[in-house]
This record gives sequence, C-alpha cells and structure tokens, in this order.
Amino acid sequence: MALISVLLHLSLLAAAHATSPGQGIRSCPSKQITWSPCVLNGTNLPVSCGSLSVPMDYTDEHANTTLNLEIRKIPAANSPSKGSIFFNFGGPGDSGFGDIAIFGELLRVLTGGFHDLIVVAPRGTANTIPFSCYNTSIERGIAQLGIVAGNASDVALGQIWGNTQVIADTCYATQNETGRLIGTAFVARDMMCVVDALGEDGMLRYWGYSYGTILGLTAAAMFPDRIDKLILDGVVNPHEYYHNKETEIFTDADKVLTAFCTACLASPTACPIAHVHNHTTPAALQTALATLLTTLKYHPIVLPILNTPLLIDYTLVKRLLLLNLYSPTTWPSFSSFLTGVLTRNATPSSPTSPVSSPPARTGPSPRGDALPGIKCSDVYDSGRAARLEEVLPTVRGRWNASWAVGDARRIICRWSARSGGCRGRGMRGGLTG
Ligand SMILES: *[C@@H]1O[C@H](CO)[C@@H](O)[C@H](O)[C@H]1NC(C)=O
Ligand SMILES: *[C@@H]1O[C@H](CO)[C@@H](O)[C@H](O)[C@H]1NC(C)=O
Ligand SMILES: *[C@@H]1O[C@H](CO)[C@@H](O)[C@H](O)[C@H]1NC(C)=O
Ligand SMILES: *[C@@H]1O[C@H](CO)[C@@H](O)[C@H](O)[C@H]1NC(C)=O
Ligand SMILES: *[C@@H]1O[C@H](CO)[C@@H](O)[C@H](O)[C@H]1NC(C)=O
Ligand SMILES: *[C@@H]1O[C@H](CO)[C@@H](O)[C@H](O)[C@H]1NC(C)=O
Ligand SMILES: *[C@@H]1O[C@H](CO)[C@@H](O)[C@H](O)[C@H]1NC(C)=O
Repeated sequence: MALISVLLHLSLLAAAHATSPGQGIRSCPSKQITWSPCVLNGTNLPVSCGSLSVPMDYTDEHANTTLNLEIRKIPAANSPSKGSIFFNFGGPGDSGFGDIAIFGELLRVLTGGFHDLIVVAPRGTANTIPFSCYNTSIERGIAQLGIVAGNASDVALGQIWGNTQVIADTCYATQNETGRLIGTAFVARDMMCVVDALGEDGMLRYWGYSYGTILGLTAAAMFPDRIDKLILDGVVNPHEYYHNKETEIFTDADKVLTAFCTACLASPTACPIAHVHNHTTPAALQTALATLLTTLKYHPIVLPILNTPLLIDYTLVKRLLLLNLYSPTTWPSFSSFLTGVLTRNATPSSPTSPVSSPPARTGPSPRGDALPGIKCSDVYDSGRAARLEEVLPTVRGRWNASWAVGDARRIICRWSARSGGCRGRGMRGGLTG
C-alpha cells in the first residue's frame, strides 16, 4: 500500500560540494535525488525510494557509462530532520532493504527520531550490477555439491580445492567484467555521491554492522574529512578481510555454542535435546554434540524432514550450526532438529525455520554469488591464493579459533580482481573451508 509522500528540501546551507575526486577519478553527478513514496516489504513505516545515476567505473576517466543506485529512505519521525544516517547491515552481498524494514522502527527510536534513515543497495546486490555465476539456483547447488566441511574427512580439503577451481573458473567466465566494478571502494564512492546529492551538510553519518564495518572504515580511510559520525558494530578485522586471511571472525563462535547449550539446559521444554541423555552441564551436552558429529562422519543418516528424505551428514550439521548460532531466535527449532538427529527420529520442523517473531537476521546467506563476488573483488593481489598450501595457515587458524564452526564453509579467495586502486582484471572468486 502506498504511504505518505515525503519530499525533503534540506538545501538551506549546503552548497552540494561534489566529492573531491582524486587525479583521474570521475566525479559524482551534480544532481539531486528524486524521491517517490514506495512500499518496503516488512514494514508499515512510510518509505521513500530514490535513485541516483553515478559513474559505473570511477577509475576510467575516459568512459561515461553510468549506473543507477537504488536508495531507500525511512524519513525522520520528527521534523525538521537533522540529516541522514546511512546503514549497512552486513554481508557483503545483501542489499540491506530487508534489514532496514525489520529494524527501521527500532533504529528510528535509537537514533532519536530526528534523522532520516538511508540504505543504498551496494553494487552486486538488488538490481545494482547483480553478481551471479549461474542462471539458476539449481545450477549453483549442483556446482557446490562437492563443497564439504573442511574437516569432514582427511581428503576434504583437496576435494574442496578442486571443486572451487571449477566454481572460480565458472565465475570468471560469466562475471569477468563485473568483478572489477563491485568492490567496496567503489561502494564507498557511491555512498559519498549520495551524501552529495542529498544536499545536506556534505558529511557522512553512518552505522555499519559486520561487513558494514568494512564499508564504513573504507569510506573513512578514503574520505577522512567527510565523516561526521561513524558507528562500527560487530567489527570485522579489515586487515584480515583485505588480505584474505580471515580467522578472527570465528573467535567467539564456540562461546555462542556454549551459550546455546547453557540456554538449552535452562529451558528444557523449549530444548528437547537436553532430555535425550539427561545431560546436566553445558559441557556434557557439547560432548554429546561432538560425538554426534564424529559419528556422522562415518555413519550419515537419512531422516524425513518436512516429508522429504534428507541426508544428514557431518557437513550439513556443521553448516546448520554456523547458520543457527547467528540467530538465537532459531535455537528452539534447531534444538528440536538436533534432538531428532540424536534420537534418529524425524522432526516436525525444518532445521532452519525460525519459530517465533521477531524475524531473525538471516546470517551468512546472501542471494546469488555476491558474497564471494564482492569479497574476492576486494582482496589485494598480495592476498590471493593460487595453491592450497597458501591458504592452509588461514584454514588451520579457523579450526583453532572455533571447534564448532571453524571448518564450516566460509570464503577464502583464490584469485582477486584487484590491482591498484580498484582497477582490476576480471574477478576470479573461489571458496574453501
Ligand atoms: C513482498 O512480499 C510479498 C509477500 O511475501 C511477495 O510476494 C513479494 O514478492 C515481495 N516483494 C518484494 C519486492 O520482495
Ligand atoms: C560519451 O557519451 C556520448 C553520448 O552520450 C558518446 O557520444 C561518447 O562517445 C561517449 N564517450 C565515450 C568515451 O564513451
Ligand atoms: C545462462 O544463460 C545464458 C543466456 O540465456 C546462456 O547463454 C548460457 O549458456 C547459460 N549458462 C548456462 C551455464 O546454462
Ligand atoms: C568474459 O565474459 C564474457 C561473457 O560475459 C565471455 O564472452 C568472455 O569470453 C569472457 N572473457 C574471458 C577472458 O574469459
Ligand atoms: C533419563 O532420566 C530418566 C528419569 O530419571 C530415566 O528414566 C531415563 O532412563 C534416563 N535416560 C538416560 C538416557 O539415561
Ligand atoms: C593452531 O594450534 C596449534 C596447536 O595449538 C598451533 O601449533 C598452531 O600454530 C596453530 N595454527 C594456527 C594457524 O594458528
Ligand atoms: C578434525 O577431525 C579430526 C578427526 O576426526 C579430529 O581429531 C579433530 O579434532 C578435528 N578438528 C577440528 C578442528 O574439528
């Protein structure tokens, strides 16, 4: 349902000063954004949609191709607005439109009600240079069948490495031009163009979560004199991110598993797994899970889930652990799934479906291939890995950091698109555990 039309004219003082371009860098358009009322799934708040045409490739001063940025705004509850705050909820590979719908009302209160909340879909997401190596999700699923958890067996890493070569080559064949256009440095430039086009004070107010902290600090490094306020929440280590050596992201994962086990024992009716073997301590429950995982390595089982036979193996349970540890709201249904696996009984619920509102944030499951696409486009040349041996220290570091999910699939890039200031050859992404 269409809601209120909100047109904000905040052009009082702000002479829209174009983002000061470096040498050979294309500048932002000297345009204002046209807003129109629109509907954002998941919220009843008034929302405005806008678009802004920006350079497709800021580093090619001789080109004049452009790109249309998609923008969503939840206007300030109170007027006059004190200006905009930009949000990125993580990914990469997620537009952020779903999260601003879910959290918009809360964020409007948290930020005092006098600020417009803005989300710009980053390149690689929504309709902004979507990044997908496959025509259908079935094709993608088939290509990723061989990607097991890294410690699923003593031949798993070699198998993953071989499979990711196929994936990387497929992505290169279909997305070789796209890779150099979707990196975070370009997304930061896009964001500053939107800051300019808003016609406010020309300063960025920004709140980023998870990968959003990478975007925020990249923008701060590139435009240090254009930052008003910056909140970095759930901080990703930028050196590890840009150098393709991410291990710190797993540092606290096992503590979350302990919290899951503790919460489970504290509320046995919501967590049937606690009853299976009459466990009384979180450590005992965790040991039972470890034993289950080892058993599944050698004896995977088949259970009917939602009336369909499903192979429950080590890799599946590891992936579900990774997914569900992100979202405490899914813990009751996850525990009933685990109970079903422990007792070899079918469970009524799907292993991932959240059982209660408010809706959970979905964790690391962006659409398409934008997650590896953007990450690998960001990796410095020096960080790219051409041989399995080169990534083993990172793999081992992850296993050391977290027993629970250190070997569940996350991205390590095999090739990067970068060479000097975001101008790159095509992207070659790869993944391994
Ligand atoms: C909005 O939600 C409805 C119902 O869930 C769905 O059919 C529709 O495709 C969604 N629209 C967008 C743009 O996601
Ligand atoms: C820029 O666009 C114009 C048409 O709008 C075209 O004639 C011109 O060749 C373009 N320049 C380049 C370098 O592509
Ligand atoms: C994907 O679709 C395009 C356009 O229809 C086609 O040319 C290409 O062969 C398809 N790729 C695969 C892997 O089927
Ligand atoms: C780049 O991708 C296009 C299809 O998008 C393909 O035709 C071309 O061969 C690719 N180039 C290389 C060097 O792989
Ligand atoms: C758990 O405790 C109940 C009641 O004390 C007992 O009947 C049951 O046998 C115990 N189960 C196991 C697996 O020890
Ligand atoms: C992993 O832990 C082992 C044993 O503590 C240690 O020897 C090794 O250096 C660690 N590896 C990495 C990459 O952290
Ligand atoms: C990997 O698997 C081996 C053999 O099952 C096991 O001894 C080891 O503890 C596992 N390591 C991790 C980090 O899961």
